[in-house]
Amino acid sequence: MPRHVAIIMDGNGRWAQQQGKRRTFGHKAGVEAVRASVRFAREKGINCLTLFAFSSENWNRPEDEVSVLMELFTFVLKSEVKKLNRNDVKLKVVGDTSRFGSKLEQLIHKAEKLTEKNSALVLNIAANYGGRWDIVNASQRIAKKVQSGELAVENIDESLFDQHTSLYGLDNVDLLIRTGGDCRVSNFLLWQIAYAELIFTDVLWPDFNEQCFEQAIQSFSSRQRRFGLTGEQIESSVGATC
Ligand code: FPP
Repeated sequence: MPRHVAIIMDGNGRWAQQQGKRRTFGHKAGVEAVRASVRFAREKGINCLTLFAFSSENWNRPEDEVSVLMELFTFVLKSEVKKLNRNDVKLKVVGDTSRFGSKLEQLIHKAEKLTEKNSALVLNIAANYGGRWDIVNASQRIAKKVQSGELAVENIDESLFDQHTSLYGLDNVDLLIRTGGDCRVSNFLLWQIAYAELIFTDVLWPDFNEQCFEQAIQSFSSRQRRFGLTGEQIESSVGATC
């Protein structure tokens, strides 16, 4: 079972257009698929689920679509947070939230505070997030510490860098799933997916249900993760621990 699963939820717009509806109808339907995925992850004992809800580039979409997405985040935060809390889910919004306006920022803060002690599942919602932003942000934070004398350049290593990224403290991503048929990572968790298994599915996000998630997990389980070692090394180390 992967400990950390990340999902690029793509295909809402096409799902709606296939039914002759506006793209925003697909985003609304996508919320149900979010609920199903959270439920599945919680039940299967996955430690952490990170969902790409809104990229830094999504601001360039038509104004009405952006505003429906903002309304949807607000609605979901208001309507779902108590249920998440009851189910021992810790909610975290990752990304530059300063552009969302103070009302939404306050809601995010309140939801994070309410759920901060929960431990069954960490649910990260990546919003106004970009993998490059995360790396630049970490670099700036480190540079400031070097500038103030708090940190020596020689002490910068992968572990220290990781401590300054937005998902610090969580397991690295084991499995990245992208729905919607495209085979790219679109500036999602660039640092954190270094050794992730990638699964691309043609299923459009609103149709991604428990069965699709289960299939992805099965495909993940059948892969040999070598982390730079040879297959023989992995097999002998597995044998040694059995
Ligand atoms: C990509 O589909 C999806 C998004 C940009 C938004 C994702 C939002 C949701 C699933 C609903 C809200 C979620 C939360 C967590 C509050 P697309 O519009 O790019 O689809 P397309 O590729 O078919 O155009």
